[in-house]
Amino acid sequence: MDKMWAGRFSKETDSGVNAFNSSISFDGRMYRNDIAGSIAHATMLGEAGIISKEDSAEIIKGLQSILADLEIGRLDFDLTAEDVHMFVEAELTKRLGDVGKRLHTSRSRNDQVAVDIRLYLRSETEAIRELLKKLINVLCDTAEKHSDTIMPGYTHLQRAQPITFGHHLMAYAQMFLRDIGRLDDTNKRMNVCPLGSGALAGTTYPIDRFMTSKLLGFTEPMANSLDGVSDRDFCIELASAISTIMMHLSRFSEEIILWCSWEFKFIELDDAFATGSSIMPQKKNPDVAELVRGKAARVFGDNVTLLTMMKGLPLAYNKDMQEDKEAIFDAIDNVKLCISTFTPMLETMTVNKENMRNAAARGFINATDCADYLVKKGMPFRDAYKITGGLVAECIAKNTTLEELPLDCYKAKTELFDEGVYDAINLENCVKCRTSYGGPAPESVINQIKYVRERI
Ligand code: ARG
Repeated sequence: MDKMWAGRFSKETDSGVNAFNSSISFDGRMYRNDIAGSIAHATMLGEAGIISKEDSAEIIKGLQSILADLEIGRLDFDLTAEDVHMFVEAELTKRLGDVGKRLHTSRSRNDQVAVDIRLYLRSETEAIRELLKKLINVLCDTAEKHSDTIMPGYTHLQRAQPITFGHHLMAYAQMFLRDIGRLDDTNKRMNVCPLGSGALAGTTYPIDRFMTSKLLGFTEPMANSLDGVSDRDFCIELASAISTIMMHLSRFSEEIILWCSWEFKFIELDDAFATGSSIMPQKKNPDVAELVRGKAARVFGDNVTLLTMMKGLPLAYNKDMQEDKEAIFDAIDNVKLCISTFTPMLETMTVNKENMRNAAARGFINATDCADYLVKKGMPFRDAYKITGGLVAECIAKNTTLEELPLDCYKAKTELFDEGVYDAINLENCVKCRTSYGGPAPESVINQIKYVRERI
């Protein structure tokens, strides 16, 4: 393809430089946004009398036909074009002749690309949001089925206190709900319009930036033209929000991996969402969860790429910024892939209630409840804590549990104990009584589900 800047140069660009410089192989995916931006620009140029109404209409029709041809595969990207912006403009000129050459009046690729990425990321943010909603729905549905499924809650990966599986799942629902909030916040700052910033210093043409901003669904035009072409904060913010989603998915994956192990056996993944081994016939591996955990690493890398790419750039546009796309696209592609594979994996897993209950029965997770029992009988908590510690030590020595320890042993510690202690340390009761707001009691889990459903 002939270079648009050929007038200034007396030599052809080195072919290696052409390939090095080119971004169409990865920015081609923004063609719809590029054409939408150009249609808004052409509309405004016509309305403002910068080009004639007829030329404006012809350009818009030409752009629409390019879009239609790209959509049905009648037109392919010209990979010798430097980027998607050059490609669309060159194709327009090929189709319309001189009229096509009027489109770029009072515009630069610098404000053009800034519009395109914002439009592209805006719709991708919406897509990620929808995927998160589906995931949260699956969490709520599963939590509803397991609002009274007892499992050990952990700290330090040591059995700590009794909770319900529903409660555990709803913790993740809260994280993903916050993730949606982060996407929405990012979108607020992203959804402003840089078009009309020109190369860096605006333009002398009587453009109407409010019109293009409105036509493209932005909330307002960006208020400084240098900032308009050199801001990539929104990519960084989005990559950061996506990184947090990946971090949550990765923690969850880690638990899925643990829960599928023979050591836990709390859940079993559906055969369609697990993989086997090439040598060990007995294996059933949680590859999906492991890959999600692994992909979190590369998305964090994308986030750091963007921050580092921007940190030393003088205003305004620098070609370094072309590197924004592969990083943010990679983050988007991977988070979408991860959520859409993770959600059905979760939806189809089987929960082994019995193993969860058995695990809860071992590990003295009702020790706090035993101490609380004494506190309710008037003993100061620290004393009750010490006595219960002694009882746990005794159980360990006798290889028994608090539930099975005879009443004499309790009474030997303090006369405050009576038969009632067995009710107090019964795991079902321990969970049922944890009715504090946000707690694991079945009724509280049901309330949490309601809370989350109302918010999505
Ligand atoms: N492909 C370029 C990018 O992604 C478009 C902007 C080019 N601007 C320029 N002044 N060379 O950043």
